[in-house]
Amino acid sequence: MKHSLKNQVVFVTGAARGMGEEHVRGLVRVGARVVATDVLDEAGKALAKELGDAVAYTHLDVSDEGQWRQAVAFAEATFGPIHHLVNNAGILTIGTIERTSPEDFRRTLEVNLTGAWLGMHVAVPSIRRAGGGSIVNVSSSAGLQGYANLGAYVASKWGLRGLTKTAALELGPSGIRVNLIHPGPIRTPMIAGIDATIAEKQPLARIGEPSEVTDMLLFLLADATYSTGHEFIIDGGAVIGQVLDALGSK
Ligand SMILES: NC(=O)c1ccc[n+]([C@@H]2O[C@H](COP(=O)([O-])OP(=O)(O)OC[C@H]3O[C@@H](n4cnc5c(N)ncnc54)[C@H](O)[C@@H]3O)[C@@H](O)[C@H]2O)c1
Repeated sequence: MKHSLKNQVVFVTGAARGMGEEHVRGLVRVGARVVATDVLDEAGKALAKELGDAVAYTHLDVSDEGQWRQAVAFAEATFGPIHHLVNNAGILTIGTIERTSPEDFRRTLEVNLTGAWLGMHVAVPSIRRAGGGSIVNVSSSAGLQGYANLGAYVASKWGLRGLTKTAALELGPSGIRVNLIHPGPIRTPMIAGIDATIAEKQPLARIGEPSEVTDMLLFLLADATYSTGHEFIIDGGAVIGQVLDALGSK
């Protein structure tokens, strides 16, 4: 990395497992101080204990404004103002439009989309107090195309794209960059059980590793100093096109 994240305060949601956990580990390796948040308190506390003083864990359901205010206050009291926010928490809801309940649709948007909006709404004043920094929102290859049986998830991830661009326009003049990552299928508990089937269809013929997404995250936080409002894809080629078996391989 060309620019350092040493001693910078990074706030990560959904940090107890999966990609969020790997982001915390990667951030600690480069010297950042990390506020790890999640609803899985046991796993989150164990991670903070393992990684030592550079990590502080606190409970945060990202769909709850009051909990956001408490968590940001905790971050400031522990490490000082936040330099970077990573809106990583998310849930996957599977079902056709006909079969998904309105409650499940709303909950998916509450966590995946409203959660990121609330994060920016509440944490940006802290980032201003830090003197600037950046935000990374986590979308998905499902934010770039439709997927049958994933309507709620797809809608939430497409919504994050517009939100990211709008936030980048509003915050650019204050020196705060806002970018979006679109992971494809990555080896985490979210897709455990269906990952092998997905891997077969990937142009790179495998599932991605969380650390490969962490590398992209670190680049965006530290070194992508002239990029804002943009979308960065790390998907093994998932959205580049289709192989039509009918054409054979002449
Ligand atoms: N794994 C994939 O293939 C994949 C692909 C594209 C995008 N993503 C996205 O990457 C992000 C991380 O997912 P992951 O694969 O690590 O999944 P994961 O299920 O392993 O981790 C998600 C984390 O978010 C937390 N979380 C869930 N609801 C929450 C809430 N209301 N408030 C706070 N935290 C909450 C969970 O407890 C969990 O620790 C998500 O936004 C997901 O949509 C995942």
